[in-house]
Amino acid sequence: MADGTDQKSSNQMWGGRFASGPSAIMEEINASIGFDKKLYAQDIRGSMAHATMLASKGIISPEDKDKIIEGLNTILSEIEAGTFEFSRKLEDIHMNIEARLATLIGTAAGRLHTARSRNDQVALDFRLWVKEELQKTEGMLTALIAAFLDRAEENADTVMPGFTHLQTAQPVTFGHHCMAYVEMFGRDRARVRHAIEHLDESPIGAAALAGTGYPIDRHMTARALGFREPTRNSIDTVSDRDFALEFLSIASICATHLSRLAEEIVIWSTPQFGFIRLSDAFSTGSSIMPQKKNPDAAELVRAKTGRINGSLIALLTVMKGLPLAYSKDMQEDKEQVFDAAESLELAIAAMTGMIRDLEVRKDRMRAAAGSGYSTATDLADWLVREAGLPFRDAHHVTGNAVALAEKKGCDLADLSLEELQAIHPGITKGVFDVLSVEASVASRTSFGGTAPSEVRKQIAWWRERN
Ligand code: ARG
Repeated sequence: MADGTDQKSSNQMWGGRFASGPSAIMEEINASIGFDKKLYAQDIRGSMAHATMLASKGIISPEDKDKIIEGLNTILSEIEAGTFEFSRKLEDIHMNIEARLATLIGTAAGRLHTARSRNDQVALDFRLWVKEELQKTEGMLTALIAAFLDRAEENADTVMPGFTHLQTAQPVTFGHHCMAYVEMFGRDRARVRHAIEHLDESPIGAAALAGTGYPIDRHMTARALGFREPTRNSIDTVSDRDFALEFLSIASICATHLSRLAEEIVIWSTPQFGFIRLSDAFSTGSSIMPQKKNPDAAELVRAKTGRINGSLIALLTVMKGLPLAYSKDMQEDKEQVFDAAESLELAIAAMTGMIRDLEVRKDRMRAAAGSGYSTATDLADWLVREAGLPFRDAHHVTGNAVALAEKKGCDLADLSLEELQAIHPGITKGVFDVLSVEASVASRTSFGGTAPSEVRKQIAWWRERN
């Protein structure tokens, strides 16, 4: 009809009190099948557990249960074979599957929805999906950490400049720098594990919001679906999307880590830095400049953070101010999580590949480590230790030495003993032992410090836990 109304038929799932079907626009804004079909496997698994429980409690007959399970198995194969016809008129995955079940097995299909609502059904499906995604993320982070541990081991004594403000600060080892990322992704993985524990409660049986009068066994369905226990409050259960928000916040923090790493890869692979070479497999060329090798994968990982953070803000905003219990607003939860999950998986996989493949240019790192007066702190520490100066005075004396080296256009280690003694008479030739970058890193043996011996300890600690 010209006004967009479709008077044809009311909804076969809930249309009892409706004289006509929805307008075309209503159908379009209401339907979620375009994206929630992703939940088909979880929906079928949930229905099987529910039907089995209903039969074991005598709420439906064993014959009906068998028909339901058989029908659901057929639907599963149809969807997996790509022959299932999804219909927007049936709104979502739950009603698409139930309608098909009715076609396949007749009246028994109508008994499946006993003691259940789409509200607890969608909470269940989505929770199962997020749980599996978190488990996958955990495995992917383990692979990324493993890649870093290997690079750290190979480079436990590869010297590079350490930066603060992206200005050369003190020499560190590349192994130590790699281990910083192991710590970051290790924290991400701990958050993932915690989130899995947090969401490990079964929503099914909360029904619309108030529970049900049927003698259901929620512990039985929880066990069958691999949850630790059922949720405790039916109102909270159908209104809660914390598990999705937790997934998105974990994804956002992890993506933030990935973007920092991506940025370093972009910087390190410039000809000006030249600390690493990316493999051909993880870089691209330019269609106009033949000499170029671009770190596109790293740049895209950096950019994915924007989408993932956006998803978190979007869902927080959807949930903000919603009254208990379920509101249709919550249907907007899924696309954000699906998109963020896909982006995060890609970003972790691309980064794992880049880290596995990258060539470390030790000569370039070593050369850069020695420039920029990176051992100035070592000189100050030497003055404290060997010449008995208070640290503040040593800092001042060292500043004078740096100014002189800068004026001469040389490194600290290139100043002569006479020049250094003119700045402070307490300086002896022993000072040259600490002015080299190797001596500098080897001396930083404090717990968690950059000394190769310390970095190897950190690697061993993580190897046991990865
Ligand atoms: N498609 C819906 C969603 O994703 C399923 C739940 C519908 N519940 C309802 N009371 N209309 O949230």
